Amino acid sequence: MAKCGSTYIDNAYSDICRIYEESFPAHYQHVWDVLSSIINLVPAQSKVLDVGSGTGRPVSEFFVNKGYGVTGVDLSTGMIELARRQVPDAKFIQSDMNKYAPPTMDYYDIIVASHSLYNLSVAKTFSMLLKFARWVKPGGVIVIGTSYRRKLIESDGFKFDHRGWAEGVSQDFLGYIFDDMSYGLEDAWSELISQAGFEILNIDKATFTRDFEDVEESDTQFYISARRIAENPLLGLNPLPESSQVEKEEIDTEAWSELYRRSNAEEVNKVVQLFETSTDSHKILCIAPRAHGNALQALHPDTEYVEIDIGNKTTAELESIEFPTGTFDGVILSWTLNRVTSLGPFLKRIIETATPNGNAKVVIIQAAPDNELICITKNAFHDLPGGPIAHHGVLLQQGEIALKRAGFTSIRYVECEDVISFGELDGEERIKTSVKLLSRLWRTNFEVQTQPADRLINAIKLQFNLYRLWRNIQSTCYPCG
Ligand SMILES: C[S@@+](CC[C@H](N)C(=O)[O-])C[C@H]1O[C@@H](n2cnc3c(N)ncnc32)[C@H](O)[C@@H]1O
Repeated sequence: MAKCGSTYIDNAYSDICRIYEESFPAHYQHVWDVLSSIINLVPAQSKVLDVGSGTGRPVSEFFVNKGYGVTGVDLSTGMIELARRQVPDAKFIQSDMNKYAPPTMDYYDIIVASHSLYNLSVAKTFSMLLKFARWVKPGGVIVIGTSYRRKLIESDGFKFDHRGWAEGVSQDFLGYIFDDMSYGLEDAWSELISQAGFEILNIDKATFTRDFEDVEESDTQFYISARRIAENPLLGLNPLPESSQVEKEEIDTEAWSELYRRSNAEEVNKVVQLFETSTDSHKILCIAPRAHGNALQALHPDTEYVEIDIGNKTTAELESIEFPTGTFDGVILSWTLNRVTSLGPFLKRIIETATPNGNAKVVIIQAAPDNELICITKNAFHDLPGGPIAHHGVLLQQGEIALKRAGFTSIRYVECEDVISFGELDGEERIKTSVKLLSRLWRTNFEVQTQPADRLINAIKLQFNLYRLWRNIQSTCYPCG
């Protein structure tokens, strides 16, 4: 049985908590030094989040003693009980960090995750960093503490990849084996943290000499402090390039249709919600690589839908579509901007299709920075010049600029998790199906590749290995309405 997942982590750490503190005495002094060096960067007595707070020491206790308002989040029942006893003036919440949400965005002044992100895949680590970028105030600070034992990891047959990450690693920690752990080298961490919208302030390292089984190796522990600089982290990957980078994307209609058939339709549900409150959506224009109309029709039977399926259109055909002006109460533009070359004029024409009475809604849907479809593909084709897929954050940013220019005032970003399921029971079949699908999604971008599937196999294997219970790929996207 796989030694990972919430229940396993809860049980293991609830036992480990008895001996945790006595096992790492040197770690504590290092953490206090790091935290002392960053504490002046934020206002006194402000709000701190301790992610994976463990026994409440060293992080929560440090800040409580200095008069800060501390919230600790941890999955483990034993750890939470101990932390509540040891640091009674902090508030401890038992929760999986993936499910935790602060009272509002931009809430905390400091977020610390000290040795608590190992059990996440790199993709989920990035999603978590993106969350930190939204939970911490602009200008606020995060501190990520981690370590790696390269020789030990490699002697167990695991490899650091081209990005400097070793994923799917199994390791013994205080008598418990944990599967599916992720270890990143300093540069790999720095890059991921920067991409999530932070400026690296400092990397504090300490080396502890310990013998790990028969591999003698010192344990390098490092804490990266970083300041949030991204105004809107959802537009990442940061730093934003000048343009969306890819000239045009031709897609395979059948592959996209199959993708949508396998999805949980969360994207459509979110769009439906955006229009739910609207009583005056009489006429809606949908431009998408598949139809949204049926779902919307169910909600507003009296509404007229004009659908333009762009799945089988070339960029030239797409850009030469004639749209009526001033006609629609609602305009939905889904995964379309990535296929357009003259973005500004196209957006202007789309926005002009909306009625000018101030009540029209325009919804633009593109991929979030942590969209796994894109991350997996980019990773597999990382050595292609320019990368095969457009930067969707820049596309959304252009959408926002065009909407503002046209007089739209209340523009907001809504997150949505579209999950693509590969429920094939046979593992090999599941891998084959998903590789075949993914390799066809961005057809022309891969024309230079003779065997796109070969490049995707390892990435997909890792994906399903890491998410063995889920068998899916998350396609996160942001409709900005
Ligand atoms: C190695 S301990 C670190 C404790 C403390 N932060 C420190 O620096 O000593 C890792 C902690 O992260 C918690 N943890 C691991 N995965 C978690 C998750 N998904 N959500 C919340 N807590 C998690 C564990 O329960 C454990 O208490």
